[in-house]
Amino acid sequence: MLELIDVSASYHLAPVVQGVAMRIETGETVALIGPNGAGKSTLLGALSGTVPHRQGQALLDGVDLMQLESHEIVALGVVQVPEGRHVFAPMSVQDNLLLGSVALRQRSRALQQRFDAVYALFPRLAERRQQLAGTLSGGEQQMVAIGRAMMSNPRVLLLDEPFLGLAPMVVEEIRHALNSLRAEGLTMILVEQKLDIALPFTSRTHVMIKGQLALVQSSEELMNSPDLGQLYFQLSQPIP
Ligand SMILES: Nc1ncnc2c1ncn2[C@@H]1O[C@H](COP(=O)(O)OP(=O)(O)OP(=O)(O)O)[C@@H](O)[C@H]1O
Ligand SMILES: [Mg+2]
Repeated sequence: MLELIDVSASYHLAPVVQGVAMRIETGETVALIGPNGAGKSTLLGALSGTVPHRQGQALLDGVDLMQLESHEIVALGVVQVPEGRHVFAPMSVQDNLLLGSVALRQRSRALQQRFDAVYALFPRLAERRQQLAGTLSGGEQQMVAIGRAMMSNPRVLLLDEPFLGLAPMVVEEIRHALNSLRAEGLTMILVEQKLDIALPFTSRTHVMIKGQLALVQSSEELMNSPDLGQLYFQLSQPIP
């Protein structure tokens, strides 16, 4: 179980995320939605230890992520797939994946098992293991980004807009892969702007507005809620 208590985060002095409380059961997939600039990526960065100023507690089965450095957080099994599918363009698919395991000092057999698992998850990558990542399609690059995170065999995956800018068929392919990870018991926080993707995929939805959680509701209830139209409207508004 991952429990966030009064989590705040910032880059400089001004707070970006403030007073966030969340409770995510083991194996649960939750959504984090909100307009541009709301602080969604910053909250994920607070959990993965990549945002400089972090306060509060984020307890993963009792261990406080806020007290750990980013490499310790990865070693504990919490891995972020950053926004914008960052791959190392001049390196092969295989080498990009390998980078996902460096923090773990894995034995060669365990490492081979991780490669096998990622290639089974994304057969398209198996066919392209020697191809330079920079020459992959956008969807394939996103698969590399997710695959790299999976190389460390995480317990919790922090997904920052993994479907952004992808064609519907590729969205479906990646959603299918994430579904199978969920079936294996992986816990996920999905940052997503599109409600029609986020709601059916998750059990609960957290709406962040200006760095704070404005609403936490069952995704199914929200899908059938008369307030959904209003929420669409709110999410499309620029931050004043
Ligand atoms: N590295 C950074 N240094 C300084 N300020 C930053 C940094 N990254 C983000 N911010 C600021 O923090 C605020 C929240 O940004 P964040 O990226 O967390 O929002 P978001 O909800 O993920 O938005 P989007 O939907 O556009 O990805 C914004 O005002 C942004 O300018
Ligand atoms: Mg973001």
